[in-house]
Amino acid sequence: MNASVATSTYLKECAAQIGLALQTSLPLEWDVPQQLRDAMQYSLDAGGKRIRPALVLTAAQAINGSSLHYESAMPIACAVEYIHTYSLIHDDLPAMDNDDYRRGKPTNHKVFGEAMAILAGDALLTHAFRLIPQAARQSDVSPEIALAIVEDLATLAGASGMVGGQAADMLGEQGITAIGELEYIHLHKTSDLIVFSVVSGGRVGGADKSQLEKLALYGRNIGLAFQIQDDILDLIGDEQKLGKKTNSDVAQQKVTYPFLIGMEESVALVKKLTQEAKTAILEANLAEPERLLQIADYLVQRDH
Ligand code: IPE
Ligand code: IPE
Ligand code: MG
Ligand code: MG
Ligand code: MG
Repeated sequence: MNASVATSTYLKECAAQIGLALQTSLPLEWDVPQQLRDAMQYSLDAGGKRIRPALVLTAAQAINGSSLHYESAMPIACAVEYIHTYSLIHDDLPAMDNDDYRRGKPTNHKVFGEAMAILAGDALLTHAFRLIPQAARQSDVSPEIALAIVEDLATLAGASGMVGGQAADMLGEQGITAIGELEYIHLHKTSDLIVFSVVSGGRVGGADKSQLEKLALYGRNIGLAFQIQDDILDLIGDEQKLGKKTNSDVAQQKVTYPFLIGMEESVALVKKLTQEAKTAILEANLAEPERLLQIADYLVQRDH
């Protein structure tokens, strides 16, 4: 089996386990309005690639090779998928990117209406913060590590992180001329949650300070590469494979990497960032670096 097939199989296995955990992550006994529960589950079950939670699990195991840490990290893997899913529901709203398809299905607001889509996003975001302490309650994650993870999530998903990036994306439509401004948007709207994923996994696995710094650098670089690749696929991707409409950025007059620096340079930058990400992992002194290296390579080649 070549490395990319093996990685794709590994990621599919991770996605299946994460899908199972997500099904029971919102307690069934909770008295929740049925429409709200359905709207949350609709987007969670829609079958994304689950890259971020897979990175949490993979980073947790990479530090010293223990599969115990992989299992302990599952509530945190679910938490990051909750945040990511909420961000997609809100990103697709008419007030933001106004998209009709996501993960191969009509967008949340198309099915449940805008009010319920906004509320489903709010509920997913809030529930993520309930899942993290559960890593400490259900496994060997110490309360101190759980606290650090909560702090990281609030920083990287909030105003100084993903939400800040989304705000800059909205404010910057059409007006961006400098690469630094576009880099700011991509680093925050996309890299920050990927940084969170690998760093939180690293924390569960017992990473030391210098390992956490290397993991963060890996996350920054694969995250930026991931969003540039997303911009590229918006232009040349296959809607069927992507599960979302192409040319959405064009319709919204977004300034993207291919728009600003051209397609060839964008492709070259994705490769360069991937190389830099791999260097960070090789310098991190991990017991099992292979999976993280393979995922970086796999993401450059992704077509969805
Ligand atoms: C889409 O993320 C939004 C971006 C930050 C580029 P993914 O490409 O990971 O979407 P899913 O989770 O697989 O649907
Ligand atoms: C989305 O970026 C980033 C977040 C949801 C935080 P995009 O707007 O490019 O993502 P897609 O292309 O709609 O998936
Ligand atoms: Mg957007
Ligand atoms: Mg969008
Ligand atoms: Mg996009």
